[in-house]
Amino acid sequence: PQPADISLLTHTSRYCCCRASPLVCPNQGLIKQLDKIKEARNLEGEERSMLSYARAISVSPFPHVITHSNLKREISKLPYLGEKLLSMVEEFIKTGQINETQGILTSSRFQALSAFTTIHGIGPHTARKLYNLGLRTLEDLERYYEVEPGRCGQETLAVIEAAGRESDEAIVERSIKVALALRHDFSQTIPRAEVEEMNRVVMSELEQIEQGCKSIVVGGYRRGKPQSNDVDIVISHRNWESGAGKIKGLCKRFVRRLHERGLVTHVMHLSGFHEHNALRTHHWDSLEKALTVFVLPGDGSQRRVYRRLDLIFAAPQVFWTAVVGWTGSTMFQRDLRLYAKQQKGFKFDSSGISRRHDSKLFFPKTEREVFELLGLVYVHPTLRNA
Ligand code: GTP
Ligand code: MN
Ligand code: MN
Repeated sequence: PQPADISLLTHTSRYCCCRASPLVCPNQGLIKQLDKIKEARNLEGEERSMLSYARAISVSPFPHVITHSNLKREISKLPYLGEKLLSMVEEFIKTGQINETQGILTSSRFQALSAFTTIHGIGPHTARKLYNLGLRTLEDLERYYEVEPGRCGQETLAVIEAAGRESDEAIVERSIKVALALRHDFSQTIPRAEVEEMNRVVMSELEQIEQGCKSIVVGGYRRGKPQSNDVDIVISHRNWESGAGKIKGLCKRFVRRLHERGLVTHVMHLSGFHEHNALRTHHWDSLEKALTVFVLPGDGSQRRVYRRLDLIFAAPQVFWTAVVGWTGSTMFQRDLRLYAKQQKGFKFDSSGISRRHDSKLFFPKTEREVFELLGLVYVHPTLRNA
């Protein structure tokens, strides 16, 4: 079924939060090829170039298959498709591939860097640093970080208690070690039914320590992806007045509980504690969150797969902005921020919406209200796959 508001969206807007971006689009082949070039630029730290490919990719869910006959008339009118990108599109229409993509796919540097960045905590910068040390494979990284596949002991309780007092380097190093040791589990994607089961288990545990909470599973799951790489859950409280007080500090308390119950085995990062962001100057949010490793209880007959679980805690007043922010996609969220700033004079991120000139805060009561406040047509989550 087509969400009702789809006809109000335009495919020629400069902002992807004004366009419909379905999970699968008619130009998937083209997008896949451009995505490799984007990834290569990202890995090399070429931010601006990366972004122009990301933007070209996000306008390519053009409603029809891109062909010779609509190329000149319609495609050239889409934003972000300049001369160079258009010639790549033309090449793709003619030959079914893009020469530059073929070169990237056979580059051993590209292969090494993209393997490295599959490890949570390793970004392009670190990946290049490791490559320059002569490391080439994930096995090389295991030796370098001294981790054994499948095994990762961690003083999880100590990690929880140390939240907010650790250096960034310590956090990153720990994330890398956990992600590397458990990489064979983390590379297995999570089907929707298991995502739902994880949410049920998490929420019934939460009910034991704090009654009246609510949650929405966000991330790729909410955008309709059949398989997810991790599970992202935004948690809040049903009571508008007393909820904020109940949510504050809940993250740490709850993760401690999940750990005691054997459900959270590792903690990569707990944040939002001593990181003051009252002026809302960073574009990342100031919500309490826990990036963890979770394992569903089993009956002992089979080993359960370790899963990455992100828990985000939001007061009722910022629940819907958190849901919109964490539903993504990353591009969609980027353009929401940009649109809010450029077109409305608002500041938007997962932890709130405020008006720039007087810092007035807004507390939307529904997801639709978030879009209305920003003057946007509501975009169904399954159309936010920009
Ligand atoms: P998967 O690979 O299946 O997990 O896809 P995903 O889209 O769910 O990716 P991910 O779990 O990395 O992130 C979910 C969304 O949350 C993304 O669209 C990001 O924009 C957003 N997000 C991720 N990390 C942060 C963060 O630290 N702060 C904020 N505000 N948003 C974040
Ligand atoms: Mn996710
Ligand atoms: Mn996540």
